Order: sequence, then structure tokens, then C-alpha cells
Amino acid sequence: MHILLMGPPGAGKGTQAEKLVADFPIPHISTGDMFRAAVKNGTELGKEAKKYMDAGGLVPDEVTIGIVRERLSQPDCVKGFILDGFPRTKEQAAALDDILKDLKIELDAAVNIAVPDADLVSRVTGRRICKACGATFHVTFNPPKKENVCDKCGGSLYQRDDDKETTVKKRLEAYHSQTAPLIAYYKAAGVYKEIDGTQPIDKVYADVVKAVKGK
Ligand code: AP5
Ligand code: ZN
Repeated sequence: MHILLMGPPGAGKGTQAEKLVADFPIPHISTGDMFRAAVKNGTELGKEAKKYMDAGGLVPDEVTIGIVRERLSQPDCVKGFILDGFPRTKEQAAALDDILKDLKIELDAAVNIAVPDADLVSRVTGRRICKACGATFHVTFNPPKKENVCDKCGGSLYQRDDDKETTVKKRLEAYHSQTAPLIAYYKAAGVYKEIDGTQPIDKVYADVVKAVKGK
């Protein structure tokens, strides 16, 4: 199962990917997570990426395409992957086609979790993430049982640097100008599936599973 999870910032890509990998043992590849790990480790890639992430813009294509090509070439991607947050530009989509052609892999579905802008700012600003295991919560929509403590591992929760309201608005602008056009790209490729992402998390998940199983 080789799938893309698409959608605007805060649509629920990470939340759904976390559920998918629990049911389907394939790698979850999130370019956002890869960049955040590089920032945390203080690498050159991290220093470069942070400038764009903090401003709510996109990391340059050549940097992003390079790390995705390397990751998708690993043996664990042969049986499947969930690619989350990539591609985000037409150039990235074209590069992904080339990478998959080289690897003789066909994309099964490009699943778009659709959520209107009006819902996204509160979703992103209310998001909290576990420092230890990376699990995602929301202060209102998916609160942990104990405030600021992860239900899964007891780790403490934090807010991402780019989840402040002004940065979220910039990320939404970048989404509409550079990423939303990919909906037409994947419709034309015949693999596009759209999910109503305004439903409760478990309902969204049921629809995602139907979409990836092709039912
Ligand atoms: P990235 O980490 O990919 O961020 P994003 O696309 O903005 O997506 P988010 O992680 O914000 O949201 P999500 O859809 O995963 O939502 P989540 O499940 O957490 O990228 C960050 C940055 O890295 C970019 O801005 C860019 O600079 C750079 N970057 C990354 N990839 C790049 C690329 N390919 N090219 C160039 N630059 C790149 O859910 C959000 C919240 O809502 C959570 O609190 C959750 O609990 C809650 N929630 C989830 N589902 C529901 C629901 N159904 N109902 C109510 N609440 C819900
Ligand atoms: Zn945790």
C-alpha cells in the first residue's frame, strides 16, 4: 500500500497516519517530522529548514526532494508507505513521479483530508505533541486525560514553534498558492480520494481506511 496523505495544515494528516501505522505496518514518512528531527539534532539541514518553517513558508524543493528520494529508496518502502506532507509543490509532485518510476512503485491513492480554513487555525493553535513519543493531542478536540501529560507514554506535551496564530496564517497562504493545485494533478492521475476531515477523528479514519482499501 503506497499512499499520499494530503491536506492543509491541521487537517489531521499526522493524526490519521498515526492510526494507519497501528493497523498497517508500513513506514510513516512525514517531511515535517524529518525537518523537525533535523532542527532538534542541530544539523545543517535543520538550520536551513528552520528559517523557512518559522516563517510559515516551504523549504526549497531541491532540499526536500533530496531527503524524500533518499528515504523512499530504503528497502522498507518496497511493501508500502504513507507519505505525509509531500509533495507540496508541482515540482515535488513531478519529482515523486520520477522517484516512483525509478523504484517501480505505483501510487495506490492520494487521500486528501479536506477541512475549511475556518476550522484550521483553532486546530493548529490547540495542538499539543508528546516530547517522548510524538503522539498528537488537542486541548479541546482530543484532550489528554491529564493536562499536558501523554496518555500513551506519560511524556510531557509541548506546542510546535510554528503553531502560533500568525505563522499558521502564513502556512495556510502557502498551502493555497502552492499545494492546493496538486488536487487537480492527482485527480488527473486517477488516484485522488477526498475525505470530509471535519468529522470526528474516528469517522475520518473509517473513511481513510475505505479510501486506501479502494472500497
Ligand atoms: P508539517 O509538519 O507537514 O505541517 P502541516 O502540513 O502544516 O501539517 P500539520 O502537521 O500542521 O497538520 P496535520 O494535518 O498533520 O494535523 P494533525 O493531525 O497534527 O510541515 C511543517 C513545515 O515543514 C511546513 O510549514 C514547511 O515549512 C516544512 N515542510 C514540510 N514538508 C514540506 C515539503 N514537502 N516541502 C516544503 N516544506 C515542507 O492535527 C492538527 C490538530 O487537530 C491536532 O491537535 C489534532 O489532535 C486535531 N485534529 C485532528 N483531526 C481532527 C478532527 N477530525 N477533529 C478535530 N480535531 C482534529
Ligand atoms: Zn507520549
